[in-house]
Amino acid sequence: MFAATAIDTSNKPAFYNELATQLKALLEGERDSIANAANTSALIYQMVPGLNWAGFYFLQSDEELVLGPFQGKPACVRIAVGKGVCGTAIDLGMSMLIKDVNDFPGHIACDADSRSELVVLLRDADGVFGVLDLDSPLPARFDKEDQAGIEKLAAIYVAASSFED
Ligand code: SME
Repeated sequence: MFAATAIDTSNKPAFYNELATQLKALLEGERDSIANAANTSALIYQMVPGLNWAGFYFLQSDEELVLGPFQGKPACVRIAVGKGVCGTAIDLGMSMLIKDVNDFPGHIACDADSRSELVVLLRDADGVFGVLDLDSPLPARFDKEDQAGIEKLAAIYVAASSFED
């Protein structure tokens, strides 16, 4: 049985290094991409303070993201590429760090409580194929250290999982 261990959150780089170690252990020996996405979102939601949503959206075509495994309230299922924070991340090919979602005109509010958002790309040898999305009810919850840490967790998820049809 895997049991997440509490981590000191006062030093963010150290926190994310330890969380990366725990994620590798959690996914070890399992290649199923949906099961691994489910456990990755569960670990992040349990361990990262101040979240109200953590989960995955996967590209189903060049035009559309579809909801994957997540933790939190039920969410919007389909997001067009170029729309919302998630669709904009795909369109621009970069992570999105949104300190105040009210300042992002296209923000899609799945939960009215959300105040800040971090979206990082899922990328393998064939290119970008989805996003990992974190929401917080706290304004400016995420900074560059969170972005770097979550990008590392996303890369661990991709490396651990198989995406062959
Ligand atoms: N806020 C996102 C939509 C997904 S939810 O946050 C779960 C966006 O604007 O793309």
